[in-house]
Amino acid sequence: MKDAEGVHFLQWCLPKVGLIWPGYQKVRRQVYKRIQRRLESLSLSTLVDYQRYLETHPEEWTVLDSLCWISISRFYRDKSVFEFLERDVLPCLAREVSAQGDDVLRCWSIGCAGGEEPYSLSLLWKLELQAQFPTVRLLILATDIDDRAIAHARQSCYQPSSLKDLPTEWRAQGFDRTAEEFQIKPEFQEPVTFLTQDIRKAAPKETFHLILCRYLPFTYFDVPLQINTLRCLVEQMQIGSALVVGKGEELPTEGFGLVPWSEKEGVYRRA
Ligand SMILES: C[S@@+](CC[C@H](N)C(=O)[O-])C[C@H]1O[C@@H](n2cnc3c(N)ncnc32)[C@H](O)[C@@H]1O
Repeated sequence: MKDAEGVHFLQWCLPKVGLIWPGYQKVRRQVYKRIQRRLESLSLSTLVDYQRYLETHPEEWTVLDSLCWISISRFYRDKSVFEFLERDVLPCLAREVSAQGDDVLRCWSIGCAGGEEPYSLSLLWKLELQAQFPTVRLLILATDIDDRAIAHARQSCYQPSSLKDLPTEWRAQGFDRTAEEFQIKPEFQEPVTFLTQDIRKAAPKETFHLILCRYLPFTYFDVPLQINTLRCLVEQMQIGSALVVGKGEELPTEGFGLVPWSEKEGVYRRA
């Protein structure tokens, strides 16, 4: 597929499914490969054919949407964010949970991909903070739209490259090593529950002390969808709860009662 044709096609179709071109610019080749496979399975030759197909087969838009799910992730992505969570955010939230006579710190990882983000949080808590807060349990709900990502997360086996940013001692303590892969140990899996869920259509019933929503709506969704998602996130937060977005991602609007905890690290708090 020629790049110019791919760009033209994405700029035409992304807005029709509530997605934005700037988010896809860097990762467009990943999407081209999937579209190419889809063309082959439909016996279509060109993107112009596929455009016509979409215009006459409305159900195909759901397939196109799924071709645009970007699954890039790794453990301990953005080291300084995890350091800030360890140093400031989690101790503060844990103290507040204890002060309220509660014993569960509830977290939600949205767009959790293959589990790298929620398992990083589980490792951080158990290896660095649990001893300081022996009465507090960290529970993590991890959701993703993609069944295959959730299956991978439950399987919890990773290539060495996805662990390269993790502190060395966490790698040694947190994983069982097989010939080619690392599998996260059961005690770090135990606090995490995985669920297939589309953030545009559904949300969990409970509220959370900490929500991680990184490199999904605020990179790929259009502004109306970003605002709807943010409204939904805030509804899942209590006063004092924290929201973490990706580094460099901006919230689509002020208001909703969120104040920066650290703008540099993309951490906000419900005031
Ligand atoms: C780029 S990855 C980010 C993974 C992780 N949050 C991180 O920062 O490393 C985005 C993830 O969001 C998922 N996703 C895409 N659209 C979604 C939606 N509407 N609802 C929930 N998850 C979605 C994708 O399947 C993918 O696993």
